[in-house]
Amino acid sequence: MPNLDFDLAPEDWQPIHGEPELSYLMHYDFQVLSWDRDAHTVDFVLRFHPDGGHCPRHRHLAATTVIVVEGEQHLDEIRPDGLHHKMRVQGQYHRSSGADEYPHMERGGTDGATVFYSCYAPDGALFELLDDDLEVTHLVTIDNMISGWEGHLQTRSSARVAS
Ligand SMILES: [Fe+2]
Repeated sequence: MPNLDFDLAPEDWQPIHGEPELSYLMHYDFQVLSWDRDAHTVDFVLRFHPDGGHCPRHRHLAATTVIVVEGEQHLDEIRPDGLHHKMRVQGQYHRSSGADEYPHMERGGTDGATVFYSCYAPDGALFELLDDDLEVTHLVTIDNMISGWEGHLQTRSSARVAS
């Protein structure tokens, strides 16, 4: 299991499990590190497991910096002529300057992966999530990512108080 050295709150990982009826395995852990609404930025980390679990099928809308902290990041870009596979290994850095042209599926390698993302979204839009027909089902914004994260932390602290 990856062990993120700069993780200041290892108990705060939010485990994400997709619905079983999904056509792919969705399973990963998520942690927001920081955000700045005035600067339109958010930094977060995904931890992928060796089970091949993905995050939701998505297309990046924001300028995004990626650093692979541990393991391998595997991307299957969904283009009109088929899937285009990309792999980034530990230590590899990538930056996009704006919205991706194509959506992709994203997962770790055989040992999983820990991947850091830093997004700059002047209009607040981070990702669109897509179904199997590549129809957009959700828009992820800085605001709804932060509110979801704050809800997770609240639930965690309530659970700690109750135990
Ligand atoms: Fe992605």
